[in-house]
Amino acid sequence: MNASEWWRTAVIYQIYPRSFADSTGDGIGDLNGITSRLDALHELGVDAVWLSPFYTSPQHDAGYDVANYCDVDPLFGTLADFDRLLAAAHARDIRVIVDLVPNHSSNEHEWFKAALASAPGSPERARYIFRDGKGKDGSEPPNNWQSVFGGPMWTRITEADGAPGQWYLHIFDVSQPDFDWCNDEVRAEFRRILRFWLDRGVDGFRVDVAHGLIKAPGLPDYTPPPVAAGSMGDGVAACPPYWGQDGVHEIYRDWRVLADEYPGARIFCAEAWVDPLSFAAKWVRPDEMHQAFNFAYLSTPWEAGALRVVIDESIAAFSGVSAPATWVLSNHDVVRHATRLSLTGKNLQGDGIGPRSPGIPRYEDGLRRARAATLLMLALPGSVYLFQGEELGLPEDVELPDAARQDPTWFRTHGERYGRDGCRVPLPWESEGPSYGFGPTAASWLPQPRLWAQLARDQQTGRDDSTLTLYQRALRIRRARNLGGGELTWVRGCGRSAVAFTNGTLTVLANTGGAPISLLPLLSGSHVLITSSPTVGSTVPPDTTVWLAKR
Ligand code: NOJ
Repeated sequence: MNASEWWRTAVIYQIYPRSFADSTGDGIGDLNGITSRLDALHELGVDAVWLSPFYTSPQHDAGYDVANYCDVDPLFGTLADFDRLLAAAHARDIRVIVDLVPNHSSNEHEWFKAALASAPGSPERARYIFRDGKGKDGSEPPNNWQSVFGGPMWTRITEADGAPGQWYLHIFDVSQPDFDWCNDEVRAEFRRILRFWLDRGVDGFRVDVAHGLIKAPGLPDYTPPPVAAGSMGDGVAACPPYWGQDGVHEIYRDWRVLADEYPGARIFCAEAWVDPLSFAAKWVRPDEMHQAFNFAYLSTPWEAGALRVVIDESIAAFSGVSAPATWVLSNHDVVRHATRLSLTGKNLQGDGIGPRSPGIPRYEDGLRRARAATLLMLALPGSVYLFQGEELGLPEDVELPDAARQDPTWFRTHGERYGRDGCRVPLPWESEGPSYGFGPTAASWLPQPRLWAQLARDQQTGRDDSTLTLYQRALRIRRARNLGGGELTWVRGCGRSAVAFTNGTLTVLANTGGAPISLLPLLSGSHVLITSSPTVGSTVPPDTTVWLAKR
């Protein structure tokens, strides 16, 4: 492997800026807060960070509604703060990936304001997807598409002369109008935006909604199967007219040529919620992006048979196009895996959970399983994504009061779906500090649960049995033994509830079942390197993963 292809094996840590660390005390995390806490990430042992959006934005979707792609929102700091953060990360050998949101802008973007002020059919309107309505007086939306956040995907505007006017398309919130990517001006503008950040020195981009930029010609009506309604994917191989259209790929081929002009490998990672994995692999063909999130893996239950299948399919699909497999268990759009993997109630992506949700596990049970799942994931070859706070074993906050909720999903579904706030609660750094060390004051944009005192980073640092120590050790071993660059070979005969394999000098066994599994067949000539929970004699208890190494 070419040494400069760092992304093939990288452990990439997602920072959700508003919830990571607050330097000003206004209750919202910021860039200087991140810079001040970089040592903790260095000690954790990550290779790169991905920053969720910090650009100028009215924050209707926590910054995924961008009003100016080339500036920092005052909430988060300034461009100079960003430059300092980038330099400080690079000084610690941590690469920095920023979030690019090309599918839609904010409705406060200059272009959208100009579109509203201009006439139907004008070049200003042509940068977005405006259409006349159907029915008498055009009072019905142009088609039947439903927004990911609930409600129709179309909003009708009032024209400059006060008359009811055209409709514009928004896959997400009404405040997030979709660009028309068939328009050359849009393409040119995003090339400019890419260069702006590449010139500043970023190491890559996580590409938001990378499966949504092109819509099927004619925008035909579509009704998703019930299982997929309101989620960011389709759940079926046949794509809806707004997801996974073939035309998206020429955009990424164009971006790849541009990024390859820059020294050092500058990468793209696709957020493409498409099925099956062989389809997702199209986003990472050799002349397109470098990585795609493995949402099939994230969505797999804690069940050995299903895990073996998804691991096999992931490696086959990605290696089939010479891309690395990626692995992820948590991010800012899903229920944290310390809760999700043990939920017994039904839960679709984006639904979230809250006080009225059934089947919420006890914290200890959820954590035990999450630690096992993490240790399994960290042994897999390829690149890994971590979400801030999972290294502390943070669960989903299921007690957020309704009045505190901010996710547009909650509002657009009139409280029917809780949405994603429960995984976004500001991090605990110090058990005794105001806002648990998140910032210098008690302010926190989402209230923090009392459990944070016990899970704060200072409580876990240097403690042998803490989740933080487990992550640190596992990441150290992963790097030392080059697990990211290794090869997986299944070990048979450990039983139906076991996920067992070797990766280089390491043997891994995860027990997803309810009964202990004997370790004896694997122990000869090997010793236990690390376990997610204490083993009992020579057996691996339920919800436990063990790494063994040859003596
Ligand atoms: C995917 C992002 O991860 C999510 O947080 C956001 O709401 C949508 N895209 C819209 O940008």
